[in-house]
Amino acid sequence: MKKLFEQKTVLISGGLGDIGRAVAIAFAAGGANVAIGDVQPAAQAAALLEQLGQYPVKCHYTCVDVSDAAAVDAWITEAETQLGIVHMVVANAATVTIAGLYKITAEQWSKELRVNLDGAFYVARAVTSRLLSLDMTGSVVFVGSWAAEAVHANIPAYAVSKAGMRMLCQCMALELAPHGIMVNEIAPGYVDAGVSRQVWDQAPDLREEARKKVPVRALITPEEVAQQVARLCDPANKHITGSILLMDGGLSLVR
Ligand SMILES: NC(=O)c1ccc[n+]([C@@H]2O[C@H](COP(=O)([O-])OP(=O)(O)OC[C@H]3O[C@@H](n4cnc5c(N)ncnc54)[C@H](O)[C@@H]3O)[C@@H](O)[C@H]2O)c1
Repeated sequence: MKKLFEQKTVLISGGLGDIGRAVAIAFAAGGANVAIGDVQPAAQAAALLEQLGQYPVKCHYTCVDVSDAAAVDAWITEAETQLGIVHMVVANAATVTIAGLYKITAEQWSKELRVNLDGAFYVARAVTSRLLSLDMTGSVVFVGSWAAEAVHANIPAYAVSKAGMRMLCQCMALELAPHGIMVNEIAPGYVDAGVSRQVWDQAPDLREEARKKVPVRALITPEEVAQQVARLCDPANKHITGSILLMDGGLSLVR
């Protein structure tokens, strides 16, 4: 049986993070070749590449800082050389600084916006400009956050970057709609991943507290996020664009 993403290539930024790895595996399982980029050195990618080796697809890792537009361009060229034209892009790389408006330094503020917002723009634009030049359709998924709409006192730079990403998603969706390139955002709530997971591993009672705050009484797994990202890239989708898939178990309804 033909797999959903057979003969397609996906490019994932922040692909060595908890959600990025799950996304890479979900797409490989769906038959896509996978280009992974992350700021971490290549040695850190060995375990994921080995895991992806169980699928009959091609995979390639590039060490790249997404806040550097030229480096992102070089990454896409390298991915194309290794795997062919990129049809789907998941802008997932992000950092988070836990510091309020009067604690965060100017450098931290600017770095966070450069990685989370500028980086997402560079990655999505570089891939889609190639699709446009070849008159090909494709999909973009921005990995946003429910923090774009719920005010959090201790992560202002992160929340602002994700709010900016939302408008970027909608601007890009409008511009690319006539070309059949679908652009959407997934906005997860509490995922047991990344910085949250690190904090909760140190203090399991905080994990339980977080779980109880969520109306569906469950934290999200990286694999569940990945499943939804893959759904948004279904090549059969010709209509869902500019949408925000809020995946927060009802969290934003009670704040
Ligand atoms: N964990 C959560 O609760 C949660 C909730 C909502 C949204 N998200 C979003 O999901 C995405 C993935 O987060 P995660 O939880 O897997 O975190 P993570 O820290 O495990 O993954 C982030 C990855 O981005 C990479 N990265 C950081 N700076 C980079 C740069 N300059 N260039 C390239 N790569 C860079 C990191 O090395 C890391 O591998 C992020 O966009 C995050 O905002 C996470």
